[in-house]
Amino acid sequence: LIAFFQPKLLAGRKVVMTAGPTFEAIDPVRGITNTSSGKMGYALAQACRRAGAEVVLVSGPTGLPAPLGVDRVDVRSALQMRDAVAAALPDADVFIGVAAVADYRPLSAAEHKVKKSSTELTLTLTPNPDILAEVAARPDAPFCVGFAAESRELDAYAEGKRRAKRLPMLVGNLVQDGLGSDDNQVILYDDAGRHPQPRAAKTVVAQKIVEHLAGLLAIRAT
Ligand code: CTP
Ligand code: CA
Repeated sequence: LIAFFQPKLLAGRKVVMTAGPTFEAIDPVRGITNTSSGKMGYALAQACRRAGAEVVLVSGPTGLPAPLGVDRVDVRSALQMRDAVAAALPDADVFIGVAAVADYRPLSAAEHKVKKSSTELTLTLTPNPDILAEVAARPDAPFCVGFAAESRELDAYAEGKRRAKRLPMLVGNLVQDGLGSDDNQVILYDDAGRHPQPRAAKTVVAQKIVEHLAGLLAIRAT
């Protein structure tokens, strides 16, 4: 009933997002991944949906249930994530990159299990595409929002990424404040500056992000 009376800040908008970690195969049973839980991305997908948006959530392996009404596309690797994003992008008004995309993948995945030996093993890694930067660089780019989880110098790194990827908005946090936890403390960065938010549950932080995003979208429309 309460939800019924809430203003639908993103009504009529299509939001495409990424969330969770990626998994880059080494061989059929092994791979490179990271400790992203996917909780922040899933909470944000739910908040966008509740705000009235059509939401496509391109998700790496998280084990989390899809939020109600959200169209989830499951992927494993960064290359699969990039393809799924490209497929979902037509008509999108907003793209939000929350995923902790692996920066590198093994140059080639072994067809069979790698056998142990007593000598050193060298893995050759090759850079993955930057999904968010690629979307933001499109001539028909939707409104792009980035995330940055840093272990130090948050302001410098977060604002640096926002400018380098040409994003109107970026959500920054210190890893010690957010990773894996149900709470998060974030700072929102946009052309007007930095907007620190109080520490809160990821669901509450997600609602704040939606409100800020909707405000910037409204300004852009005028
Ligand atoms: N991102 C992406 N594709 C990648 C790497 C990052 O879409 N291959 C997106 C993330 O989803 C996030 C933003 O870019 O929204 C910042 O990711 P982050 O890992 O913090 O920054 P990088 O540019 O990868 O730089 P670094 O890891 O060196 O800090
Ligand atoms: Ca990275």
